[in-house]
Amino acid sequence: MADEIFARRSENWFAQKGKHGFIYRERMRNQGFAPDVFIDKPVIGIATTWSELNPCNAHLDRVAEAVKRGVWEAGGFPLEFPTMSLGEPLMRPTTMLFRNLLAMETEELIRANPLDGVVLLAGCDKTPPGMLMGAASVDLPTLMITGGPMLNGRYQGQTLGSGTAVWKYDAQLRAGKITQEEFFSIESCAARSNGSCMTMGTASTMACVTEALGVQLPGSAAIPAVDSRRYSTSHLAGRRIVQMVHEDQRLSKVLTREAFENAIKVNAAIGGSTNAVVHLLAIAGRMGIPLSLDDFDSLVRDVPVLVNLMPSGKYLMEEFFEAGGLPVVMKNIERLLHTQIITVSGKSVAENISGAKSWNDDVITSFDQPFKEAGRGIAVLKGSLAPDGAVMKLSAATPSLMIHTGPALVFEKLEDYIAVADSPDLEVTADTILVLKHAGPKGYPGFPEVGNMPMPKKLLDQGIEDMVRISDARMSGTAYGTVVLHVSPEAALGGPLALVKTGDMIELDIPARKLNLLVSEEILDERRLLWKAPAPHATRGWVKLYEEHVMQAHTGADLDFLVGGSGSYIPRNSH
Ligand code: FES
Repeated sequence: MADEIFARRSENWFAQKGKHGFIYRERMRNQGFAPDVFIDKPVIGIATTWSELNPCNAHLDRVAEAVKRGVWEAGGFPLEFPTMSLGEPLMRPTTMLFRNLLAMETEELIRANPLDGVVLLAGCDKTPPGMLMGAASVDLPTLMITGGPMLNGRYQGQTLGSGTAVWKYDAQLRAGKITQEEFFSIESCAARSNGSCMTMGTASTMACVTEALGVQLPGSAAIPAVDSRRYSTSHLAGRRIVQMVHEDQRLSKVLTREAFENAIKVNAAIGGSTNAVVHLLAIAGRMGIPLSLDDFDSLVRDVPVLVNLMPSGKYLMEEFFEAGGLPVVMKNIERLLHTQIITVSGKSVAENISGAKSWNDDVITSFDQPFKEAGRGIAVLKGSLAPDGAVMKLSAATPSLMIHTGPALVFEKLEDYIAVADSPDLEVTADTILVLKHAGPKGYPGFPEVGNMPMPKKLLDQGIEDMVRISDARMSGTAYGTVVLHVSPEAALGGPLALVKTGDMIELDIPARKLNLLVSEEILDERRLLWKAPAPHATRGWVKLYEEHVMQAHTGADLDFLVGGSGSYIPRNSH
């Protein structure tokens, strides 16, 4: 018997009358589902990045249970399935090497299966963008739930912010200000519960950014991972995704150019991570939405930083949630946002934030009395050292270094620097500019978070805690310093960064958005002739595919053949 064609995607599997329907239903029934689950119930895939190898996401199994309750209740049929999980703490060489692999896997799993709508369970840094990129290329009704932050770290009466505490106490250990035993004690107090980093690092940034994009229910990004409200909002999300299928509210109706503009502005207002730049560019690329690196500068010049969270401020995500969370931030910058666009709640941004109110003005400040004035978000720099651009997180930088010209101290790879960073003989002064090459998307490979090279011990001993650092790498959202990142083109492609030598003068002028290598074109031409492309890192497997196809930072570092989407077509049946 030939297959019938049905309007709802999952019916093309489960409503078939012949042998194909038999096979699909029979095998699903081995899990004990009642026969009527195959009738008139939208099938909701719950894609989970739960993994014990990713401690930030190790509670997503419980989140999935809450989503399922909501889906069943609303008349849907929930089916949970795993996707690869990318956990920052353990994975080597860097999770970013695998973000596009997760995106590819998510896309193909959604399309290959009988799904009408999808809930994406994400957390940590890379799974929110990776999953969203994949889902965007399919474009079903889609809703994301991020896992939420850990509870605040506490040590001897002090608050510890994840990531930020590591950089701070590692510097103190190297400077001899604390003992190794104290360092171990601090470690045991820093991660008190399930969840992701509780600073405004990349995980919290991406949680807020997905809420700002409208793909996560309003108010849910900041709820701590272990708070009962994370589970009740997940329950509601389960109900809502079923309605979204009935309304045919596909991702493309939510992820508009206006939604990306909102997310970029929100990222500035929360003092968010530079990693959001790369991820938003990649997600937009999947949606076919024109978004450029320059948008991340031009759209935020009048956006003040409202959120007083580490690493730029003093509070953590628990206080941010208690102060009202992201809806308050969006309410306070409402005048700058597109408020009539639709979100996964089924309501507009204006409706979502209408009742938002700050419960602590020191944590979430007002627009008129901001934590930091407008123009302290992300700056996009261009010039002879970065023709295609570079980025910098202004709220984490030292104001006195915003205009700085100094001699380069160049390292071809990170290990070369680490080997001498503590040497008293290192020829470095406060004016020196550390330059790191071969840490970009292709060069490392995988675009690691090493741009905030640790300060040379020689300078730490002199009480100098910051200096200009420039690289083609990324930086952890929990890090701080006057650090220029994502220099494009990267050194491995033979960009100007590849040609810098120790002693060259570099001009950084943040107000003018300039980053120049003060070396004549004639000398650079001579160096270019001598430059040799580095050998590939792999001859097989994913790394080979990645190296051959990864694009540059200023376009989002997706693979060139994954840009755009193929939609939710139903693949051929080969049974
Ligand atoms: Fe997973 Fe920071 S390490 S969120």
